[in-house]
Amino acid sequence: MITLTVNGQRHDLDVEGVEPLLYILRDDIGLNGAKFGCGLGQCGSCTVLIDGKPVLSCITPAIVAQGRSITTLEGLGTLREPGPVQRAFIEEQAAQCGYCIPGMIMRAHALLKRNASPSEQEIRTALQPNLCRCGTHMRILAAVRRAASEMRQAQAGGASSGHQEASR
Ligand code: FES
Ligand code: FES
Repeated sequence: MITLTVNGQRHDLDVEGVEPLLYILRDDIGLNGAKFGCGLGQCGSCTVLIDGKPVLSCITPAIVAQGRSITTLEGLGTLREPGPVQRAFIEEQAAQCGYCIPGMIMRAHALLKRNASPSEQEIRTALQPNLCRCGTHMRILAAVRRAASEMRQAQAGGASSGHQEASR
């Protein structure tokens, strides 16, 4: 029996902790955002965040994530209300088959949380572990740039309205 906290929700699971986290997320919790690509830690389609850091869930035993905070694609937004990175990928139409995109979004989200203004090289380096076999790279890069810019604008807007509130 292990307990995992995924997207803020606690799950008590009657599973072997040595199973890959990806299998538990998809088969036992029903979160299919993270994808099975290679199953060998080589493609990044299974990327999720543990305590905000990207991990390859196909080669991470579930027990490693116990007591920590797991975030999957579903934790970033919904169909009706996508998160900023998800929205940017939609706006840039950054997908062909789409299989790599959940992993790309998770890695981009982690990057923008720690670096709001990444350079082109920093974006490329951060996304390097994730592969796209359709060759959608240029659109993916554009989506990450757009997400970064929109998140900065939203933050600036929030900060200035906060100041206005404070000065009332
Ligand atoms: S499925 Fe995990 S890295 Fe490919
Ligand atoms: S869009 Fe098909 S693998 Fe990236």
